[in-house]
Amino acid sequence: MAMRNGNMRVQKKMNSEVKLGTPVIVLNEKVYVESVGKKGVELAKICEEVAEKQGISIAICPQQVELAKIVSSVNIPCFAQHVDAVSPGSHTGSVTLESVKETGARGSLVNHSEHRLKIADIDFIVDKAASLNLLTIVCTNNIAVSKAVAELKPYAIAVEPPELIGSGRAVSQEDPGIVEDTVRVVKRVDENCVVLCGAGVTNGADVKAAIELGADGVLLASGVVKAKDPKRALLDLVTGL
Ligand code: G3P
Repeated sequence: MAMRNGNMRVQKKMNSEVKLGTPVIVLNEKVYVESVGKKGVELAKICEEVAEKQGISIAICPQQVELAKIVSSVNIPCFAQHVDAVSPGSHTGSVTLESVKETGARGSLVNHSEHRLKIADIDFIVDKAASLNLLTIVCTNNIAVSKAVAELKPYAIAVEPPELIGSGRAVSQEDPGIVEDTVRVVKRVDENCVVLCGAGVTNGADVKAAIELGADGVLLASGVVKAKDPKRALLDLVTGL
């Protein structure tokens, strides 16, 4: 569990089986029509097949209502797309970390650009997730926010400039500085923190650029979910690892 030591938070050593292999490709299915219901399961199976055949690390964030089903359908790490900063109890429509854990998912995205949270909520979620042995991938929008979030000791930080999300213009090519500097400032705070980058990542060259800038992997959505041939798109991404 993440524990307070004076003002410092010390990250609990996680069981190594819980952690993700790196470099990693994390696919966020979002709530696109192309990832709803059975289509989301098919996408997850494509990820599983590519991960197994290519011997690489791929994780998937299914649509929330499909999380339990997809966790039980594939043998790759699954993450919720969002959790709320609440404990089980009298809340309606909230997603708790406890319920995510119950599905068998490995953890959750937190503070996605399309589902922002207050810093105190991020702190609550990161701390509680660690106590439940769940992984948190906290999304950030710039270097300063990445540095601040690193102090909370999440498992991973994914820096994503909002203006590039869904643009097809990859952060690793359009704004290499944000990737390089985020890696630098985050690792200075916590060398164990996994650093991902995302927004506009669509092909192997984008992934290669991200890895060369020091990232431990990428977080992406539309480049695969909305591709005519998602498997081909994924195989292309893998060439950059
Ligand atoms: O969560 C990933 C995301 O926000 C990036 O989206 O479509 O630019 O890969 P996309």
